[in-house]
Amino acid sequence: MPETQARILVVDDDPIMHAVCRKALADKGYDIVAVTSGRECLDKLRHEVIDLVLLDYKMPDLNGIEVLRLIRTSDDPELGVVIITGKGTMNSAIEAFRLGAQDFVTKPVSSEQLRAVVRQGLEVTRIKRHLRRFAREGKKSRQFEYLVGESAPMQSLFETIIKVSASPISSVLIRGETGTGKSLVAKAIHEGSPRASGPFIQVNCTAIPSDLVEMELFGTEKGAYTDAQERKHGLVEQAQHGTLFLDEIGHVPAAIQPKLLNVIEERKVRRLGGREDIEVDVRIVAATNRNLEKAIDSGDFRADLFYRLNVIPITVPPLRERGRDVLLLAHHFTQGFAKEFGKTVRAVSPMAEKSLISHSWPGNVRELKNAVERAVLLVDRDVLQETDFSLTITTAPVSPSTPESGSQTDWATTSLEEVEKAHILNVLQRAHGNRSHAARILGVSTETLRRKLKEWKQE
Ligand SMILES: Nc1ncnc2c1ncn2[C@@H]1O[C@H](COP(=O)(O)OP(=O)(O)OP(=O)(O)O)[C@@H](O)[C@H]1O
Ligand SMILES: [Mg+2]
Repeated sequence: MPETQARILVVDDDPIMHAVCRKALADKGYDIVAVTSGRECLDKLRHEVIDLVLLDYKMPDLNGIEVLRLIRTSDDPELGVVIITGKGTMNSAIEAFRLGAQDFVTKPVSSEQLRAVVRQGLEVTRIKRHLRRFAREGKKSRQFEYLVGESAPMQSLFETIIKVSASPISSVLIRGETGTGKSLVAKAIHEGSPRASGPFIQVNCTAIPSDLVEMELFGTEKGAYTDAQERKHGLVEQAQHGTLFLDEIGHVPAAIQPKLLNVIEERKVRRLGGREDIEVDVRIVAATNRNLEKAIDSGDFRADLFYRLNVIPITVPPLRERGRDVLLLAHHFTQGFAKEFGKTVRAVSPMAEKSLISHSWPGNVRELKNAVERAVLLVDRDVLQETDFSLTITTAPVSPSTPESGSQTDWATTSLEEVEKAHILNVLQRAHGNRSHAARILGVSTETLRRKLKEWKQE
């Protein structure tokens, strides 16, 4: 629901208030609908989609609180309501908040104030509706069941996923920083494709020792080597009529790469020790957070395989580019972990939201998920505060205090990789060299951290 298309219902028996609201809000692109009584308001809500109600307290028929109570038992109980009153009493304000009013403001209201409460009210409504839809639809939209996001970059990612899933192409490459959700995207591509009823076989290319990768992927024929007692189907064959997800493709040993190319181009596989090719119908979805162009330059990755995979590249955006999705995800994870740990936590404080938004999330969604998990686990209150997230260490790139840097670093002329390196080394230093601790703070796997350190020759 982009803010500019939101429809706001103004309910006030005083037409001057209608004019005040129109003046303050109409030029912001909101669609304003105005009525003069509580009954008319309820009637409008039954027939039109409204995103926020600005509700007068004192009206001739039903008062604002009575209308609010009826809204909460209607078809759209998450609808945002702001009570605007001529003379606010403490009791009416308490009652309004108890019924979930987003705000309670007293007249006269300035245009600026109106715009601010509307902006906030719409945001809260958006999040609540999303969570409700998510909970209600559950299994209905299996394809995006686990992918939370409403920001523009995520919407366009969803569109790409839908197009790619439906197309008959035989390979897809998913790129993106660590922790952005590449494995969820791979699953969504499978779920949305005509192959969804077939198998989804996931292989983590760094998890299998390199001398076993070939056997695992392509299988063995009886007698292929001394211990091979019987024929073994490889993972490629197991993915027949389905999807083979090669996670961390950048780490597939060089010797295996031409064979994978063969699977994609010729749709054939040969078991180890086998003499015949076996036809396979498998879509390969590969993912990497590695710069494959660089790996090609250094001779670690074959250019022909890269170009073949990269026909349809899908890039998962980093979390810092997803705007308020950070909050959506934070609420989503808070609910999930609260349920899992049996906690009563149900909200994130506005100050904490601010710091979540301004954090740079180098470990992306994984880092956020870990931060929320830790916070929910440790907290005994209902609302998570800024300090519960312990984000201080990674809020901004910290100047590297490496001996050679000497003076302050000029970030404006520093490459992203250098910033990343400085940041990682800094966190590692603060974690007293404890890699698993550092990896947890950074929101990456220890494997990823180890690899990075190795790349930089830090181990
Ligand atoms: N949009 C999202 N909605 C909900 N959960 C998400 C989303 N994106 C990622 N996650 C969660 O964040 C964690 C990290 O995601 P995932 O493992 O898919 O990252 P990745 O891109 O494969 O990272 P890496 O490159 O380090 O392997 C997982 O627990 C995943 O469930
Ligand atoms: Mg992954």
